[in-house]
Amino acid sequence: MKVLIVGSGGREHAIATSVAKSPKVNKIYCAPGNAGIGQIAECVPITAMEFDKLVAFSKEQAIDLVIVGMDDPLVGGLVDALEAAGIRAFGPRKNAAILEGSKAFSKDLMKKYNIPTAGYENFETAEEAVAYLETAKFPIVLKADGLALGKGVLICNTLQEAKEGVQEIMLDKKFGSAGNKLVVEEFMQGREVSVLSYVDGKTIKTMTSAQDHKRAQDGDQGLNTGGMGTFSPSPFYTKEVDDFCNKYVYQATVDAMAAEGREFKGIIFFGLMLTAEGPKVLEYNARFGDPEAQVVLPRMKNDIIEVMEACIDGKLNQIDLQFEDNAAVCVVLASDGYPVSYEKGHVIKGLEAFEGKDGYYVFHAGTKQTGKGIVTNGGRVLGVTAKGATLQEARANAYEATEWINFDNKYMRHDIGKAIDEA
Ligand code: AMP
Ligand code: GLY
Repeated sequence: MKVLIVGSGGREHAIATSVAKSPKVNKIYCAPGNAGIGQIAECVPITAMEFDKLVAFSKEQAIDLVIVGMDDPLVGGLVDALEAAGIRAFGPRKNAAILEGSKAFSKDLMKKYNIPTAGYENFETAEEAVAYLETAKFPIVLKADGLALGKGVLICNTLQEAKEGVQEIMLDKKFGSAGNKLVVEEFMQGREVSVLSYVDGKTIKTMTSAQDHKRAQDGDQGLNTGGMGTFSPSPFYTKEVDDFCNKYVYQATVDAMAAEGREFKGIIFFGLMLTAEGPKVLEYNARFGDPEAQVVLPRMKNDIIEVMEACIDGKLNQIDLQFEDNAAVCVVLASDGYPVSYEKGHVIKGLEAFEGKDGYYVFHAGTKQTGKGIVTNGGRVLGVTAKGATLQEARANAYEATEWINFDNKYMRHDIGKAIDEA
């Protein structure tokens, strides 16, 4: 089989690494890819939103399966465009990717189908939002409706902060058209857990759990980022939580989408908050998490191509999804200054240390191959993942491996997986 992966981050490198293990696959392309992906796939200079070019390339190369890793092209309808041209694609169609693409849609869906989530109101004008906030309890959470690179969520402690948030999102359009609608949501307290799942329209199979660290600095301080590190499994994702979510969240979401005429095929990522009243859905994503994929996929025993094809063909019930009985930790090596401003173009040394080391992975996120060698080319540069028999061991291994890599302005959090010790 010939496979094309669409995207360029650490998540797509993790997907490509799993695809490369499949005996069914003899050629992998990635659009646009990065320097690390380029070691196992042929990178083609087409970006994820160039749908016409992606369709034309897939036809010319007779691609058997396109895997769409990123949210923007999914929400924009890349899978529909590929299917219309007769090309098989893994990921939700546009009418189902709205589960991630519109927070107002997903909140209304959860309310209608009694899926546990925080109380909320949706607003289409700033005046109505402010009038509501004047009588609300604080802290309160404001969310831009659309995609905003994970930055469209504001936790406001005072009415003044909330009014400023409404101004930024709805009037100044800081996140563009993502701010045409606003969700105002009750503030929840608890631990966060990410559960990713494969879905074939009817059947859902959840993967092992994971936990991200979204803030830039140690102790969950600093700005929100795309994610600074992950561990899997989460010791807080107990059998009781799993049973609850199986009963009230996972299948209920898939069935709700089907009942709405929006059959979902692909990945549903459940962002859960474990509150005192039980688990509640924080958000849905319609793709693998980044860097959740970097700790979940290395532990998956199945052939990823078989699982993805089963999703497309509505045969996921025939798959016995299995994960290794171990743990993995991913520490993101970023450029100092991320997520605000940072330098690019520094040479990365030490990547070869990972070659032939079982259970250690260096997933590239923002890297580029140049005449000087591989250089930094983004805020999140690399994701260093290591496995271990236990979470503690995986964490020690991952932090040891971060020392193998050097580049100017290398920055990382030193407390990824600290929560493990509280379990
Ligand atoms: P989201 O993009 O919806 O996952 O929001 C980003 C982050 O904001 C989440 O990972 C949470 O840490 C936080 N967050 C979002 N919604 C809430 C909420 N209702 N209560 C508390 N924290 C929240
Ligand atoms: N790591 C969170 C996300 O991918 O949205």
